[in-house]
Amino acid sequence: MKYTNQVVWITGASSGIGEAMALEFAKEKAKLVLSARRAEVLQEVATKCEALGSECLVLPMDVTNYEDLEINVNVVLQKFKQIDVLINNAGISQRGLTLETDFEVDRKIMEINYFGNIALTKAVLPQMLKQGNGQIVPISSMTGLFGFPQRSAYCASKHALHGFYETMQVEHYNDNLKINIICPGRIKTDISVNSLNKDGSKYGKMDSGQAKGISAEKCARKIMNAMKRNKRLTVVGGSETIMVKLRKYVPSLFFKIASRISAT
Ligand SMILES: NC(=O)c1ccc[n+]([C@@H]2O[C@H](COP(=O)([O-])OP(=O)(O)OC[C@H]3O[C@@H](n4cnc5c(N)ncnc54)[C@H](OP(=O)(O)O)[C@@H]3O)[C@@H](O)[C@H]2O)c1
Repeated sequence: MKYTNQVVWITGASSGIGEAMALEFAKEKAKLVLSARRAEVLQEVATKCEALGSECLVLPMDVTNYEDLEINVNVVLQKFKQIDVLINNAGISQRGLTLETDFEVDRKIMEINYFGNIALTKAVLPQMLKQGNGQIVPISSMTGLFGFPQRSAYCASKHALHGFYETMQVEHYNDNLKINIICPGRIKTDISVNSLNKDGSKYGKMDSGQAKGISAEKCARKIMNAMKRNKRLTVVGGSETIMVKLRKYVPSLFFKIASRISAT
């Protein structure tokens, strides 16, 4: 199965996993809608995708501007007439202990990672049901499956996605609607650089753990593979993914190890 001529909308397409996904879909000549806040960077990604033979619509947006989402759906429909795939990838991480983190930081992370994500899904869903087909891919995290130091808001936002999308998987069990939850482990992107400190300032550093992660390109290939196989939930990463099994089967060991892991 290929995504040739399918309309694929990717949020957070200006860098990291989102950009790598755009290039992966461009190789299959999908029609791409590229969204994030930075329009100029998105245009650069579009130029690379077009060089691979893909038609692109650059659609800059902040996923927390909820009132614009319906308008944006209509812009996509005017250009491409349908929306086959939505990859809800835009997100931001955190570096800060629960005790010290400003409530505004908790709120901001939830607004982007959870409400921004589900609001776009709710705006696109009626069109997918009308078409009679659709594929929605929320990019969660391995930390959507367990707790992790200095990430209380981030983990919470990703856990919330699981409740929402698993419910959709049940509600649309008999519809031609694929919902594939993706849980990346450590992927070498700017996610740590763009993380929020306890006071909401930018963390600004590439963490050593992050730098050792698998590449965004490898991650994108694995995500596309999971989408083609319509997997309900997929963990993507390197050796760190053992933590998912430890949390499930040997929780006492998981808590011992996780409590000792350096937050970075
Ligand atoms: N890298 C990892 O190790 C890892 C692990 C688990 C999960 N993830 C998840 O993977 C997703 C992509 O992250 P990444 O690793 O590729 O990091 P990244 O390079 O920092 O990319 C984040 C993307 O989200 C966009 N974004 C942030 N806030 C936004 C907003 N309010 N509205 C619209 N777009 C926004 C950014 O673009 P603009 O700045 O241009 O808006 C950027 O394109 C995130 O959901 C993250 O939680 C990553």
